[in-house]
Amino acid sequence: MPYRSPLLNVMTAAALKAAKGLIRDFGELEQLQVSKKGPADFVSRADHRAESVLRAELKKARPTFGLLMEESGAEPGSDTSNRWVVDPLDGTTNFLHGIPHFSISIALERDGEPYAGVIYSPIADEMFVAERGSGAFLNGRRLRVSARRSVEEALFATGIPFLGLSDHALFLKQLGAVMAVSTGVRRFGSAALDLAWVAAGRYDGFWENGLNPWDIAAGIVLVREAGGFVTDLSGGRRMFSGGGVLASNSALHEPLIGLVASASREPIPAS
Ligand code: IPD
Ligand code: CA
Ligand code: CA
Repeated sequence: MPYRSPLLNVMTAAALKAAKGLIRDFGELEQLQVSKKGPADFVSRADHRAESVLRAELKKARPTFGLLMEESGAEPGSDTSNRWVVDPLDGTTNFLHGIPHFSISIALERDGEPYAGVIYSPIADEMFVAERGSGAFLNGRRLRVSARRSVEEALFATGIPFLGLSDHALFLKQLGAVMAVSTGVRRFGSAALDLAWVAAGRYDGFWENGLNPWDIAAGIVLVREAGGFVTDLSGGRRMFSGGGVLASNSALHEPLIGLVASASREPIPAS
């Protein structure tokens, strides 16, 4: 077993503890009668329970750190340099539909920059970890982003905006541009795992419009520590302020930015 820092130990232990509840709830969902309130209510309770476990574990281990959690928002700590950024359940729609592709995402942000990340896929039992300067690992095995250099051979992942979100027409243009020249585009439904899979070289790149910090903070560390690049959709640093996120290896990052940007510049037909 390779050395794992005390910080990553805290993060992985918290993820494993919260995962126990999610696995139990995911199993129960299959037995659940479709009541009036429906499974959505059950999933929302599972989500909140996972968040409470994560908060308790992270607070116990590092009482002074701040928190930014998807369900309960921001909670400043006395230590203003360090903040946990947490999505207790990424891939909620998959969870609700009994699709076993979801994750827990925990990042440590230090002085405003993602510093360490843990993304755990409970059903696959895949633990992705990375800490700045120490590399990225999956279940103890070192990760590298893919070595593919041509867009035609590349497999990309993305996220599709759904009901209640804007930019549907813009997304279709981006998808049109990328799918026309690449091997394929996947939409598996957990942005955190999409980034972890770029770090693992499974996907050659990923882009999505307008994600939240808890969706991407841990994945950013993983991709960078695996030798990849992460920017906003125009190659800048606005990933946390609405610029979207785009991750790839050194050869395909610029071409993917070009494809997504060219689509964004074209006029969008009125809907
Ligand atoms: C969602 C997932 C999905 C992405 C959405 C996110 P949630 O997070 O990451 O892949 O396309 O934009 O909101 O709601 O399941 O935590
Ligand atoms: Ca999420
Ligand atoms: Ca979530």
